Amino acid sequence: MQVGVPKEIDSGEKRVAISPDGVSKLQKLGYEVCIERGAGVGANFSDADYEAKGASIAPDAAALWDGADIVLKVSIPQEHPGAGRHEADLLDEHKTLIGFVWPAQNEELMQRLAATGGTVLAMDCIPRISRAQNYDALSTMANIAGYRAVIEAGQHFGRFFTGQITAAGKVPPAKVLVIGAGVAGLAAIGTAVGMGAIVRAFDTRPEVKEQVESMNAEFLLLDFEEDGSGEGGYAKTMSKEFIEAEMALFLEQAKEVDIIITTALIPGKPAPKLITEEMVRAMKAGSVIVDLAAEQGGNCECTVPGEVAKVHGVSVVGYTDFPSWMAAQSSTLYSNNLCNLMGALTPDKDGNIVVDMTDEVIRGATVIEKGAITWPPPPPRLSAAPKNAPAAPAPAPEPKRPALSANVKSYLGVGVLAAAILGIGFAAPETFLREMVTFILACFLGWQVVWNVTPALHTPLMSVTNAISGIIVIGALVQMSNPSSWAVGLAAFAILMATINIAGGFLVTRRMLRMFQR
Ligand code: NAI
Repeated sequence: MQVGVPKEIDSGEKRVAISPDGVSKLQKLGYEVCIERGAGVGANFSDADYEAKGASIAPDAAALWDGADIVLKVSIPQEHPGAGRHEADLLDEHKTLIGFVWPAQNEELMQRLAATGGTVLAMDCIPRISRAQNYDALSTMANIAGYRAVIEAGQHFGRFFTGQITAAGKVPPAKVLVIGAGVAGLAAIGTAVGMGAIVRAFDTRPEVKEQVESMNAEFLLLDFEEDGSGEGGYAKTMSKEFIEAEMALFLEQAKEVDIIITTALIPGKPAPKLITEEMVRAMKAGSVIVDLAAEQGGNCECTVPGEVAKVHGVSVVGYTDFPSWMAAQSSTLYSNNLCNLMGALTPDKDGNIVVDMTDEVIRGATVIEKGAITWPPPPPRLSAAPKNAPAAPAPAPEPKRPALSANVKSYLGVGVLAAAILGIGFAAPETFLREMVTFILACFLGWQVVWNVTPALHTPLMSVTNAISGIIVIGALVQMSNPSSWAVGLAAFAILMATINIAGGFLVTRRMLRMFQR
């Protein structure tokens, strides 16, 4: 089958669906690849780059769509000025289109696409579950937008991000508030912290607190009990009271911080308005607000989508196309997402697409199958972030008899153990008894030490157990000269076990250290 990659026609769209490296990946899956002339120019990929990888070049959109069985796009299909037709009408019952579609917002487009009898997979509908992470174009774009939001804030902010002490005077670090710590928010936090700013963040989902803190930012807490975690790890609409409490917190923060980056979204709903004009007025002149929710109406009352508004001396950035501003980066990563998805759609690597509707990820992404609208899909079975388990129903009163028998069992166990120890005490020689008491105490202490250490401290604990294993090896080596073959056997066994523990400890520690190396 042939994969076609058209030139994007959306004004200001510089991205391209497939990078030259993506061509090779698709060829490995058995596909031929055809690129529309000049499709990659906005992302700095020339036609020659594509040809060098073995792609053919189509002179225009009509020729490209004509020859393609699968069309890979970025933006939603729209009226094509060159072809004189709507891109949706270029689809037919033998073709599959993969790209951003946003079916909830584009009902008319969905009907138009369905009328062609073709199949459409929406990259914005890929379920946000762990297995689908490498096709998750929404996260890819959110990550880029979060990074770019900080760079853009720096462009409008007249000061350093990092604090400095210079001969000319002391410069305090910039204070940044990030509202919404999803993918874009976390990328913004990482970038701002990396640039030396003091970063604070707020989110309605309490589970992100640890992620925020692990990035050296402060998580702002609200004295209000309400969990914002909704289905699939996304946020849910909060109560009016919660939003009011949250906004009171933001008003206080607005007086202090220099930059606010807002990313708060609730899937399928307009962005919540969290920054009022009063808050903008409360900010210092020269401050910056970057509203990443501008496309969904904006989190700030003063946002003008697609523009930078100057309100009470504050720059309110409402650009909606940050990923397109970093077209080379976003095209490369989007191309990887698409190639990974194409890999899942081509199980036999034979250049034939198989839209397996029993696969949860493919089912989720398929919004139209052979002309039938299949959106919305059933909700994903897995939640991205497990919600707190609902309160368990009150347990039925325990029948008295089993409780009694459980007690009797444990008393019996203790009794048998005591009798066994007494028996050994009478029969065994005195030296053995001494060793046995030491052994029992060591077991008890070891158990208590390991059991009571929190999982976060297991790595340092491993170093301690390595030291203990070292002592075991020395003790066992001393026993190797013992005349009893039993003692030698046990010593050899102890050396083997302790060596496994030591080697394993070093291996795990090395792997963990490598995670922190750049
Ligand atoms: P998003 O873009 O829909 O929302 C951004 C953030 O705004 C969210 O963290 C949300 O909690 C927050 N928010 C909503 N209303 C708010 C309010 N009133 N005040 C403050 N914050 C508010 O979310 P995004 O970034 O697309 O993903 C959200 C979550 O989805 C991730 O943190 C993760 O748990 C999950 N996810 C899982 C993936 C996977 O497993 N493949 C991939 C991507 C996301």
